[in-house]
Amino acid sequence: MRFIDFGSLNFDHVYRLSHLVRKGETIAAASYQRNEGGKGFNQAVALAKAGQQVHFAGAIGPDGTALKVYLEKLGIHTECLMSVDIPTGHAVIQVDDDGDNSIVLYGGANRSITREMIEGVLDRFEQGDVLLMQNEISGGAIILEEAARRGLRIVLNPSPMAPEIMSWPLEYVEWFILNEVEAGDMTGEEEPHKMLDALLRTYPHSHFVLTMGEAGAICASDGRRIYQPAIRTTAVDSTAAGDTFTGYFLYAMLNGKTLQEAIRLAACAASITVSRPGAAVSIPVMEELEKKWTIQK
Ligand code: RIB
Repeated sequence: MRFIDFGSLNFDHVYRLSHLVRKGETIAAASYQRNEGGKGFNQAVALAKAGQQVHFAGAIGPDGTALKVYLEKLGIHTECLMSVDIPTGHAVIQVDDDGDNSIVLYGGANRSITREMIEGVLDRFEQGDVLLMQNEISGGAIILEEAARRGLRIVLNPSPMAPEIMSWPLEYVEWFILNEVEAGDMTGEEEPHKMLDALLRTYPHSHFVLTMGEAGAICASDGRRIYQPAIRTTAVDSTAAGDTFTGYFLYAMLNGKTLQEAIRLAACAASITVSRPGAAVSIPVMEELEKKWTIQK
């Protein structure tokens, strides 16, 4: 079984501010940093830092070599990382004193993925391999269709949520990992268990992990619901916390952990990410978790 993450890579331009800028307001940033990020990139980094072999597929422009080098330093396979003649994607991220953020995305190379590129990537994989995808690259519906046609198992993090996702062939998704905003948009419900009820009615063969920030997470799978409280920490920057959760949860599931162990491991890893600044750079390695908590081997 091989694991492929088909997703975005961004340069994150991060501005620390006392509060997120309001409409019509101009405020001076306390600091500025350029970091490596992108939901696809961060999730691959989390998987690799947990100990998973990962293949990464996506697109960078001529300015994106540093992102490729970063992946390769972590042992992530980059044969499916494509170079295009469009600038690499970037994100403008505001982070406030509570560690909350708001993000503006420029898709760039991430939005240049075509059917031909998708088929070229997926032809390298086979039945039983696992595909992880998000919604920061073009061709989402095609990736789902083509992956399902080849018998890949599909994990979808429908982030950032957009109306077009509802027209994708979501019945092919084995695992959805999503937050309350995404689940609310997909179902029209406001209460977490009602969101899960509605999702299970529409996709009865799928499994779900619903993340709720400080309120923890719920896993709904095979008729069971498992609740995991959030691990308390001092929030510095929530960027990539969801990506860390996704990466560590999948690592645990692919490596024979129980659902309870997987969701706890994911919550522990995400709590470390929240406690420090940046995206990929803030994601912990497994040894850091093992020093703080008892982790089932
Ligand atoms: O999930 C966090 C990521 O979202 C950031 O790294 C940024 O690039 C945006 O894609």
